[in-house]
Amino acid sequence: MKIGVVGLGYVGIVTAAVLANKGNEVVGVDVDQNKIQSLKKGVVPIFEPGLENLIRNSAMKLNFTDNFNGLEGCEAIFICVPTPNNKEGIDLTYVMDASKKVSSCAKDSILIIKSTVTPGTARVVRKNTGMSVFSNPEFTREGSAVYDTEHPDRIVIGGDPADVCESIWKFTGSKIIKTTNENAELIKYASNAFLATKISFINQIADLCETIPGADVNVVAEGMGMDRRIGNEFLKAGLGYGGSCFPKDTKALLSFSLDRNVDLSIIESVISYNDKRIKELVSKITDKIGSLRGKKICILGLAFKDNTDDLRESRSISLAQELIRSGAIVKGFDPVVKNTDLMEICNDIDQCISFSEIIITATEWNLFKDLTKEELSGKKVFDFRRILNLENSEITMGVGIGKN
Ligand code: UDX
Repeated sequence: MKIGVVGLGYVGIVTAAVLANKGNEVVGVDVDQNKIQSLKKGVVPIFEPGLENLIRNSAMKLNFTDNFNGLEGCEAIFICVPTPNNKEGIDLTYVMDASKKVSSCAKDSILIIKSTVTPGTARVVRKNTGMSVFSNPEFTREGSAVYDTEHPDRIVIGGDPADVCESIWKFTGSKIIKTTNENAELIKYASNAFLATKISFINQIADLCETIPGADVNVVAEGMGMDRRIGNEFLKAGLGYGGSCFPKDTKALLSFSLDRNVDLSIIESVISYNDKRIKELVSKITDKIGSLRGKKICILGLAFKDNTDDLRESRSISLAQELIRSGAIVKGFDPVVKNTDLMEICNDIDQCISFSEIIITATEWNLFKDLTKEELSGKKVFDFRRILNLENSEITMGVGIGKN
């Protein structure tokens, strides 16, 4: 099949590479000429495990261009452009602009919206373009985006007839839910909002555990997760959720519901707790060791989670900002992030640790698991991701551990 992908961010590049690797003729379109130039040379502008290899292996089937005319002759075109929030809620300008451009050069193609959009958007795009418009939200996690795209838990297709979209994803062997555009659009928001709810929930249980000697949120989460009705994922207490999706999508869903006078106060409280979490974690540090003025601190892990270099809405960055505001001298280490304007990033983890009096784990890179008590001896250790292989007595504070 000849397939177009418009918008070559995390979702678009991975979608294009996976579909080309399965033998489709894929054209990736983006307005960013630098990105197109680098992709043409096989240089991937983001860190995503497996992606560069996939693009290299699919080079014969994969073309990149900044010209929408390259989409001529495509049977299906995916829209993967960003949907940021503005003051009123979701900003659909990129989706509307991209679909209009597509309709002027590939009217006979079907349009598949992969961008996260509020319910009713596909209907408007259909009216604006006169094209057949389908909704096919993505549920891939950065850091395992290639695997998730090839092995999704489910494929959601909104719009009728779903045949072409269905045949594109058949190779995954995953369950396919065929439904209305509106249901598909809402499944994405409800899923992300629910996962964010699990995270704020377990972080609040972690706060509670810290007040109970003998309690440990990891064990509580494990015990909860064994109940199949609850499930064991997304119950890892930490710094709260970050990244390009959860913060944005929960806020978009909330403002969408407010516009309809619908009470989504659960999500409102999930957001407000997540928003204040970093400040609360910093006050937990000061409760333990007093003023941070002049204190040297090392943050381990700078992106919004492990296995990515994505700094969007990174909790580590918010943490660094809050620590710097409190007068601390902050340095960071990350296996893949190598610069931010905010602080010095050490190339070497040992160098970062030996500089500091206080060590904070902020993302879950496996590398941090190997730190020994000798390497951390004499340091105040705040294990905010519960990643260290140390006894409770060897750390100053672990999220969700109630100490005697
Ligand atoms: C998410 C969704 O998982 C995916 O389905 C959707 O399509 C895009 O958004 P992603 O943003 O890549 O994916 O990250 P994810 O792995 O979901 O983590 C989001 C944030 O929650 C991270 O900051 C992570 O550290 C945090 N998190 C996740 C926790 O704090 N605890 C958990 O148990 C799980």
